Amino acid sequence: MKLNSANINVMVKACRKASKILIRDFGEIEKLQVSVKGPGDFVTVSDIKVEKILIEELQKARPNYSILSEEIGEINNDESFRWIIDPIDGTANFLHGIPHFAISIGLERDKEIICGIIYDPIKDEMFTAEKGNGSYLNNQRMRVSFRSKLKDCIIFTGGHKPESKDRELALKEYNNLSSTVLIPIRKFGSASLDMAYVAAGRCDGFWQRNLNYWDIAAGIILIKEAGGFVTDFKGNDTYIENKTILATNSRINKEMIEILN
Ligand code: IPD
Ligand code: CA
Ligand code: CA
Repeated sequence: MKLNSANINVMVKACRKASKILIRDFGEIEKLQVSVKGPGDFVTVSDIKVEKILIEELQKARPNYSILSEEIGEINNDESFRWIIDPIDGTANFLHGIPHFAISIGLERDKEIICGIIYDPIKDEMFTAEKGNGSYLNNQRMRVSFRSKLKDCIIFTGGHKPESKDRELALKEYNNLSSTVLIPIRKFGSASLDMAYVAAGRCDGFWQRNLNYWDIAAGIILIKEAGGFVTDFKGNDTYIENKTILATNSRINKEMIEILN
């Protein structure tokens, strides 16, 4: 049994509180109003409500920390600490009544992610990690998988948004991996849970273009602390700037980079 740090406790408490609303809204999904944020990108009343609770709880406990949150944007304070929040990752699933979405919160210190939490409220799965202290699923230690042969692996990726400038490239990568290399690929519609599942060893890798920082912030530390690799498609650590992320167990990283290039 692990001991949570004070920051992880703050994050767990915020997630538990916000998830009550999320679970209730999911049960009443038909009644929700939906407003369009951009092409193919929806924001629900629930995204806003959940974000508000998370921010209130985090600010109550850590009034000086800055915040970057998907719907509200930046709240700048003087500290070197910053919360990176995606209130609902997997909104399209949520809207369709598909029980696969999560709250994702990362904590940065001096631009480096040092804590992460991804909470799937429907399955009651709490993925947490802290720099130097390992990754956990509901308090049990997690490790990335040991599979080394790509044909035995399952790899996750996300959708190619119709407006995306990288759509052609993304389709090419998908076709290459699925039909040439014959890797089983899955798309579940929540990048944060995709990364949490790599950390838990449920799948072996994940790649995607055009993700935002809040989609991946918590996942980064979960995977690193579970013994996995997070890079861009060239194997560099500029994945946040480049918005191309490749997250794998320690064995297939090199081969995935070769295939993606
Ligand atoms: C989306 C999900 C999805 C990914 C999209 C993201 P949202 O986040 O993570 O899996 O493919 O690129 O935008 O909009 O549900 O928070
Ligand atoms: Ca997201
Ligand atoms: Ca979101």
